[in-house]
Amino acid sequence: MLGTPGQLGGDLVDEGIRQGHEMVGLTQAECDVTDGAAVERAVGEIRPQAVINAAAWTRVDAAEEHEAAAEAVNATGAGLVAAACAAAGIRCCYVSTDYVFDGTATSPIPENTMAAPRSAYGRTKWHGEVAVRERSPDHVIVRTSWLYGRQGPNFVLTMLRLASERPELRVVADQHGAPTWTGHLAPAMLRLLDVGPPGTYHLTNSGVTTWYDFADAIIRARGVPVEVVPITSAEYPTPAVRPAYSVLDNRAWRDLGEPPLPDWQAGLDAYLASLDSAGPP
Ligand SMILES: NC(=O)c1ccc[n+]([C@@H]2O[C@H](COP(=O)([O-])OP(=O)(O)OC[C@H]3O[C@@H](n4cnc5c(N)ncnc54)[C@H](OP(=O)(O)O)[C@@H]3O)[C@@H](O)[C@H]2O)c1
Repeated sequence: MLGTPGQLGGDLVDEGIRQGHEMVGLTQAECDVTDGAAVERAVGEIRPQAVINAAAWTRVDAAEEHEAAAEAVNATGAGLVAAACAAAGIRCCYVSTDYVFDGTATSPIPENTMAAPRSAYGRTKWHGEVAVRERSPDHVIVRTSWLYGRQGPNFVLTMLRLASERPELRVVADQHGAPTWTGHLAPAMLRLLDVGPPGTYHLTNSGVTTWYDFADAIIRARGVPVEVVPITSAEYPTPAVRPAYSVLDNRAWRDLGEPPLPDWQAGLDAYLASLDSAGPP
């Protein structure tokens, strides 16, 4: 497992252990994916049955100014991991993103839709997908969206922090997507690795919302006395352009006979409950 203790990497390790798998989670210091020799050494020493690569440059706005650094992790590194897996004859799982799409869709996007990233981050993740497909015959590429889990940083924790500092939260209401809790995604990914043939899969919590409605749901769930105000993307300019619509149709997953992941609101409730049971950080 590469990309621990990230949000998803951390939950994948915990979920795998809970299911009785032997999981080895490597931090960036233990295995930097941009270092091909380190990746080969790790695969050679650990001899895993499969590698899940959740290591990534995930700072979407910073990637605009540092695209080469993001490309090194998200694309070159992904290719090095895929090549090491292919050489060892094992399955390679790469985690990708809804940001490989341009946001012009108006209904849930199936897996075979042409990618057209509009941000540097999206481009580097798309290049990562291409490298994994080229270099690892037994690949499973999982595109997911609007992830949150563990100690973040993520949108849920940011909204809760800002709500304790400000009387009003202004949140964009014209970007549509499916927030996805890593606690729901991790078991689905492990199942997919078991039962799915090689290919590209969309895996997200079900339903659709906007950042504004998501923020409103977070604030209402916590009963924080703060007003959430809808604004447009034009009123909140960011270095990276986000897709206006990036809901992913989990068709290939459903075609395996697997049940859809729970609705995004159920994911939010479960995440907030997990924060409560974990206590203060
Ligand atoms: N977050 C989202 O909204 C979202 C949405 C769709 C898809 N995804 C994808 O889902 C995956 C997991 O995302 P996440 O939110 O869990 O990310 P995250 O919390 O930022 O974790 C990323 C992990 O990768 C590690 N890492 C960074 N550079 C590395 C390198 N060169 N070698 C090895 N490890 C390295 C980080 O280590 P350090 O902490 O030491 O930097 C961190 O542990 C990523 O592939 C991401 O692109 C994320």
